[in-house]
Amino acid sequence: MTILAIETSCDETSVAVISRHNSIARIRSNIVASQIAIHAKTGGVVPEVAAREHVGPIIPSIKHALRDASMELSDVDIIAVTVGPGLHTALAVGIETAKTLSYVLNKPLIPVNHVHGHIAANWDGRKPVFPSLALVVSGGHTELIMIKSTNQLRLLGSTRDDAAGECFDKVAQLLHLGYPGGPEISKRAEHGDPKTFDLPRPMLKYKNLDFSFSGLKTSMRYLVENHPLLVEVDNLCASVQRAITDVLVEKTLRTARQYRPKEILLAGGVAANKELRARLARETNKLPWHPTYHQPPLDLCMDNAGMIGLAAAYFPVRSSTRTWRTTDIAPGLSV
Ligand code: KG4
Ligand code: ZN
Repeated sequence: MTILAIETSCDETSVAVISRHNSIARIRSNIVASQIAIHAKTGGVVPEVAAREHVGPIIPSIKHALRDASMELSDVDIIAVTVGPGLHTALAVGIETAKTLSYVLNKPLIPVNHVHGHIAANWDGRKPVFPSLALVVSGGHTELIMIKSTNQLRLLGSTRDDAAGECFDKVAQLLHLGYPGGPEISKRAEHGDPKTFDLPRPMLKYKNLDFSFSGLKTSMRYLVENHPLLVEVDNLCASVQRAITDVLVEKTLRTARQYRPKEILLAGGVAANKELRARLARETNKLPWHPTYHQPPLDLCMDNAGMIGLAAAYFPVRSSTRTWRTTDIAPGLSV
């Protein structure tokens, strides 16, 4: 079975080819046309600009992905597309393209939840093992999700305000480090001392599994205002990164001890963070029932269509939704 997958939920236009044999799905090609340079000028994504910028690269990306996989449109069995959550106008470009292909080729269309995609980035070329616990951390999400099977997902905790990636991005904006902020903060943090500034670890003292990052952002604002010369940028970056990863790692371990999953999965754009990857790998390794820890390769952390094709291959879909007639944009889709 060959799946052509399309992802346009935010600022990456991405198309991938995925093949599935004997219940194992593998990414054959994965093209990502990034708009980062455009959004860097405004310090964040402007939804209408993102939508417009998807229109140009979408068809060339389809051709490119097929060429890289040595396939033609006629080899495609199923079209998969992100329907949400995401930016309404940006999603519309991918969905209308996918619906048109589905209609013209007379092939089924699978609507994919973007968060399921981030989780499925852990399953390229291997069979998922359940129950698993996923920490999904991106620009729009900070969620702890228990996966009993691919049709039994339970949201155990989420952010009450900003997502972890949003916190990285907003702190980077305060420090004039550009957009997106996560990669730059992480780079600067390598040269800083994380113990320099005593920042809050929001929600750690509460027993619930939720997160909150807006207070941390405010603390950073006060700190930056008190250091007008910004001579300590590296130390500020190291300190905020340590505060964010402390909360993410501790809440994940707490949830894991409560639910004892067989696998622990890291997912989302912030999963590219070196410190988070290293600490979560190290700490989950110490858990007494020895769950397996997985994190996607770096190129599958940020938004990409490969993960959307993997989700289409592994997550079941009701047959009534497998058509271009009923597939629609779902910007606020939840887990
Ligand atoms: O998953 P993603 O590509 O888009 C959303 O679905 O939101 O995640 C983008 C987010 C941005 O907030 C970006 O700053 C963050 O992931 N990010 C990082 C790193 N690389 C990307 N955050 C921390 N460290 C990184 N190395
Ligand atoms: Zn994402």
